[in-house]
Amino acid sequence: MTAPPIIPGFDVRPLLASDVPALEVLFDADPEYFEINGRRFPVEEMRTALPPGRTFDDKFAYVLERDGHPEGMMDVIRGYPEPPVWYLGFIFLSVGVRGGGQGRRCLRALYDWVRAQGGAAIRLGVVEPNLKARHLYATEGFTFEAMREVDPEAKRMRRTLVLRRAL
Ligand SMILES: CC(C)(COP(=O)(O)OP(=O)(O)OC[C@H]1O[C@@H](n2cnc3c(N)ncnc32)[C@H](O)[C@@H]1OP(=O)(O)O)[C@@H](O)C(=O)NCCC(=O)NCCS
Repeated sequence: MTAPPIIPGFDVRPLLASDVPALEVLFDADPEYFEINGRRFPVEEMRTALPPGRTFDDKFAYVLERDGHPEGMMDVIRGYPEPPVWYLGFIFLSVGVRGGGQGRRCLRALYDWVRAQGGAAIRLGVVEPNLKARHLYATEGFTFEAMREVDPEAKRMRRTLVLRRAL
């Protein structure tokens, strides 16, 4: 089994179905993010989401814990849309722990972890109004690749920027 990324300030372990209720509580505490995102998706949707052509062997969903309590989650897909590219499907830190460079530390840990497994780039989608996350990604060297228009059938309620960063 692939060892989880090492993220300073957190204990990182695979996300289990039994973690869903505690993570739902973290989502509930951040209505602003879901307003920005355009819909309140359930944790279960993130836990089970897979892009086309990938399997659960390619999906790495983790809980970020502090003092034994879930404080966030992260979901990464290997080899999407092509083998050297890893897709950051989702990252969420609780309102209580975010800020102060915590998200940046998570991303930097992810670069090392993906690189160690042969990945050459990270790709992600961020909704246009999520200015805080966009600032973080821009200052981490992610660059614009494509724009995805609103598409309720694809559960995309905001225009979404696809960004990429070489490792
Ligand atoms: C996105 C997220 C993981 C970032 O983690 P974080 O701990 O908040 O980020 P950091 O503390 O590392 O801050 C990153 C940058 O954002 C800036 N920032 C923080 N709050 C901000 C705000 N309200 N508006 C604009 N920028 C802000 C910080 O100043 C920092 O930039 P700087 O280093 O140039 O000062 C976290 O905020 C989160 O979980 N948000 C909700 C879910 C989400 O948006 N996920 C991303 C989906 S693509």
